[in-house]
Amino acid sequence: MVKYMEEFHPPARLLMGAGPSNVNTRVLRAMSVPLLGHLDPDFISVMDDVKVMLRLVFQTANNLTIPISGTGTAGMEAALVNILEPGDTFIAAINGYFGARLAEIASRCGATVHKVEAPWGTAVDPGAIEAELKKHPRVKAVSLVHAETSTGVLNPVPEIADIVHRYNALLVLDTVTSLGGVEVAVDKWNVDVCYAGTQKCLGCPPGLAPLTLGPRAQEALAGRKTPVQSWYFDLSLLSSYWGQDRAYHHTAPISMIFGLREGLRVVLEEGLEHRFQRHQRNAAALRAGLQALGLELFAQEECRLPCLTSVRVPEGVTDARVRTALLRQYNIEIGGGLGPVAGKIWRVGLMGENSYPSTVFTLLSALETILTGEGYEVAPGVALAAAQQVIAGAT
Ligand SMILES: Cc1ncc(COP(=O)(O)O)c(C=O)c1O
Repeated sequence: MVKYMEEFHPPARLLMGAGPSNVNTRVLRAMSVPLLGHLDPDFISVMDDVKVMLRLVFQTANNLTIPISGTGTAGMEAALVNILEPGDTFIAAINGYFGARLAEIASRCGATVHKVEAPWGTAVDPGAIEAELKKHPRVKAVSLVHAETSTGVLNPVPEIADIVHRYNALLVLDTVTSLGGVEVAVDKWNVDVCYAGTQKCLGCPPGLAPLTLGPRAQEALAGRKTPVQSWYFDLSLLSSYWGQDRAYHHTAPISMIFGLREGLRVVLEEGLEHRFQRHQRNAAALRAGLQALGLELFAQEECRLPCLTSVRVPEGVTDARVRTALLRQYNIEIGGGLGPVAGKIWRVGLMGENSYPSTVFTLLSALETILTGEGYEVAPGVALAAAQQVIAGAT
């Protein structure tokens, strides 16, 4: 039989890169049940469940809380295209690849974009945002990436949200790599627009972008002078499908929404607080193990993200050879660096389904063997012992 006609059996990879992460088996099962129509009353009840559970996970009472059809980038586009009109002034906080993508999308919406940049591996400085806000009257919105996946940095949201609101601007927050892994408190932090993705800490495949819009952002949407440039992402149209009217807008990705419903049930059954602590503990164990191997962590200590750890490729070791060996010999995927840190860092995700001691130990022991084979000197067993100490609560 020709190869393309053979049934495909994917290898059982441990997805420890920057996302996607492995999917919970309950989610996979939920996605394989028979289809319903996108206006079927039973599907509408599934949509309602998803809206309720998304509000719980985003920690918000926002009525406009729905999954956008599309990956995290669809969330980025939907967030900005609904808020921005040509001629608006916008500030993009950039300390990595995804902050820069938001700036690019905002400029395609016709906004005048001002960038507040911080070096990769460091957090955005709230003072620098305030200084930029002072320079420009009537800034419509400021964007911030909560968990910058390209560097493994967690940015300070509450402080920045307060500043942004003092200048009457809206805060657009990217939580693609944080939602379900670290605290995202939309109402407590006063975030106006917040979106995420399903394939990281929510234990689902890529394909949906949960999004929530607070009262100030809804007011901005209602007060637009021009129609939203994207018909597909126009939230006033989408909210009539997801709201009372149930008017057809586009054919919802039914099976993905079944999967998200199950993924959210898994998250809430575990409990948000427990989940955040689990991510913290396993990240601490991984960091201890990597440091015991003599590796240097990339993100600065005070802003390290639990869901993704960035580590410098050691001198004399070839990035691609190690990642290929992990993939081919151990079935483990980790991420390489993007842009200015390509070839210089590895990015190890411990997200949702993968944030467990077993995955930490599996990666550390594979890495120890591969690095030894590459001529990098490692004291046998120290990485596992260091990680074990953290897991056991001994440090
Ligand atoms: C912080 C962040 N924002 C946005 C995106 C874009 O999401 P996607 O690749 O699902 O379109 C990603 C993807 O990794 C991300 O990490």
